Amino acid sequence: MEESQNIQQLKQQTQDQWNTTACGQVGDIEWSLDYFLSVEKNRYENYGDWMRGFYRYDDHQGVKLLEIGFGQGTDLIQYALGGADVTGVDLTENHYKLATENFKLRNLKAELHHRDAAVLPFPDNSFDKVVSFGVLHHTPDIQVCVDEIYRVLKPGGKLVLSLYHRNSLYYWTTLLLKEGIFKGKLFTLGFDGLKAIIETGADGKKLKPYVKLYTHQSMKKLVHQFPSVQIDIRHLYRKNIWIFGKILPDSAIKWLERRFGWYIIATCTK
Ligand SMILES: C[S@@+](CC[C@H](N)C(=O)[O-])C[C@H]1O[C@@H](n2cnc3c(N)ncnc32)[C@H](O)[C@@H]1O
Repeated sequence: MEESQNIQQLKQQTQDQWNTTACGQVGDIEWSLDYFLSVEKNRYENYGDWMRGFYRYDDHQGVKLLEIGFGQGTDLIQYALGGADVTGVDLTENHYKLATENFKLRNLKAELHHRDAAVLPFPDNSFDKVVSFGVLHHTPDIQVCVDEIYRVLKPGGKLVLSLYHRNSLYYWTTLLLKEGIFKGKLFTLGFDGLKAIIETGADGKKLKPYVKLYTHQSMKKLVHQFPSVQIDIRHLYRKNIWIFGKILPDSAIKWLERRFGWYIIATCTK
């Protein structure tokens, strides 16, 4: 009983975070196509210039696809434009409303649900592909969610699960060393508070979303029921490696990115 209360409380903290600041929000929220296009531009040109190449959104003709945690709907729209028949679930009401408007303004169809991924409202073997970017590390019952994803995937279907990477340069240098030790936030906010400030707008006290980071080993354990799993690492900013970011050649940055980038991505086949 106590444990389930704690889970619900942590999930409430997640919702408080994104009901206050939308994920990837650019300036003040405007319910207009221009606003959603600026979120999209910022995402694929500034935040993650590797994302379009890695996820191949434009190559999903006829794929029945489910996104867990669609946020403002930016990635799900790319999959829809790439020909997928798209469905999504997200826990946060603000995101559900924003994504619904985003799809409406672009005249695209999607089946969107305001729901917790721990109980998916779909029959077994429903989807060809399930994707989730930067979502399930915010949920304390992550294994329940991954088991649900496994259930709703068709045999041979794919899960592409992107989580925060613990053995990343961002985690060890920017978060722990700079913010945690040099700026003292580890001592004022505690470890959970420090991890929470990874999210834009969170102060680690009033707004303190749950965050857990994953290694190769813990990711493999999480997706253990899938017979085939490939792990990739991506996302490294030059600014996160201080002076070295200014002097290292692109080849060295790429080498570092594939080992110590911020996202650990499991591509799993059922
Ligand atoms: C950092 S945002 C990422 C949103 C989007 N994927 C993106 O990259 O912009 C995390 C999202 O996960 C959602 N989320 C967290 N736990 C969830 C759960 N148990 N079920 C469904 N969605 C969840 C939150 O509501 C939020 O929209």
